[in-house]
Amino acid sequence: MADERKADIHTYRRRFRTFERLPAEGVPREEVLAVLREMKELEEARWKAGYASGAVYHGADEHVHFLNQAYALHSQSNPLHVDLWPSAIKFESEIVSMVAHMLGAGAPGTEPGTPGEIVGTVTSGGTESILLAMKTYRDYARDKKGISQPEMVVPSTAHAAFDKAAQYFGIKIHHVPIGPDWRADVRAMEAAINDNTIVLVGSAPPFPHGIVDPIEELSEIARKRGIGFHTDACLGGFVLPWAEKLGYPVPPFDFRLPGVTSISVDTHKFGYAAKGTSVILYRGRELRRYQYFTATDWPGGLYCSPTFAGSRPGGLSAACWAALVAFGESGYLEATRRILQTAEKLKKGIADIPELYVLGDPLFVIAFAAREIDIYKVLDAMTDRGWSLNGLQRPPSLHICVTLRHTQPGVAERFLEDLHASVEFVKAHPEVSGGQAPIYGMANTLPDRGFIAEAMKDYMDGWYKLR
Ligand SMILES: Cc1ncc(COP(=O)(O)O)c(C=O)c1O
Repeated sequence: MADERKADIHTYRRRFRTFERLPAEGVPREEVLAVLREMKELEEARWKAGYASGAVYHGADEHVHFLNQAYALHSQSNPLHVDLWPSAIKFESEIVSMVAHMLGAGAPGTEPGTPGEIVGTVTSGGTESILLAMKTYRDYARDKKGISQPEMVVPSTAHAAFDKAAQYFGIKIHHVPIGPDWRADVRAMEAAINDNTIVLVGSAPPFPHGIVDPIEELSEIARKRGIGFHTDACLGGFVLPWAEKLGYPVPPFDFRLPGVTSISVDTHKFGYAAKGTSVILYRGRELRRYQYFTATDWPGGLYCSPTFAGSRPGGLSAACWAALVAFGESGYLEATRRILQTAEKLKKGIADIPELYVLGDPLFVIAFAAREIDIYKVLDAMTDRGWSLNGLQRPPSLHICVTLRHTQPGVAERFLEDLHASVEFVKAHPEVSGGQAPIYGMANTLPDRGFIAEAMKDYMDGWYKLR
């Protein structure tokens, strides 16, 4: 796997000068910028034309320019130094409040100044929001309940960031198989709870198949048992509230449900901010305090920081604030309308291909599998046609996460034409193999996941190899 992919990821070695050490003399800034410009031009055509699943959620020139201007104006800002940059405090407190109000803050029991007030912090991305929440539940449960062997219960479709949290923070994780409707299995989730359970998780929606978990039932179980419930709305947090207003069937998932105690939601996805921001929200200030870090005896002074990082890019918070304020409710509503209309077209078009079937009835992340042909060969054929889709496993399938890029005229039609052509190609050439098909094929048959993990570590080693 590593060798096969190394060739692909280091193509620039042949094209641009490689810096193994600092250049003895600095390269003139204009030359540096010319190189950066060339790379940008080489890379942007594909995602701009809508060939990527997810990845770039807005990407129109005027919006990117606006974000860049906001970043440039505040590129020197560091929210760690609140005395120097009160603007960063303004941006972040308002980002948290705007996002909280989009997700049910203000509902009965969450009023400002009450113990159920919705609060939060700005983080660097969905993974950090999830890691922070899991660490917070661990520390809360240790302090309040004396739990020293914490456990979490997640549906098998919960994002890998929950496994990362389990590894990093010494939390035992129970992966509960989902039901036949591609959603968390409520009874099986309940059965996995024990006295050490600190939190239950549901996703709105999960990354793989895009079908919102039964958050209402799950969060009620958690509430009755006195344990935390985390809704991972990293992907759907900026889509579902507007989809609901547009009349789509959206099951409840936010703080209007009394059992939901935290939500992760990504401004850098469908919030259309620049990459590098997300929000973690909690029900109650008390819970958020377990996220905070303080050092009282350090010779460097009294030190405190709310998230994992110390210094942080205030420019990204400025750009995030700018995106939220410039879009407003009407902007997100309109963007969601366009995305869901395009997703409808894609869903129908995929379902019309006899060899393929859509998993469940998703809103904007459309997963599909194949009858009788190898879906990963379809993935490779789509890659050959320029597409960057997501390969899934268990079951073997692919997905496309629909973004504003796909709402451009002709993109959905091109996707469906290419998908038809890819299926026909795979049927006509079952012997053709290469790309990702053999990798997924091997991964699906190998019982030894340790071997696959080692291969993936080799793969990452390859990212940092200069020769
Ligand atoms: C449901 C869900 N949760 C969490 C994440 C992790 O987000 P990030 O890649 O920003 O860390 C993703 C990313 O796609 C996601 O889809």
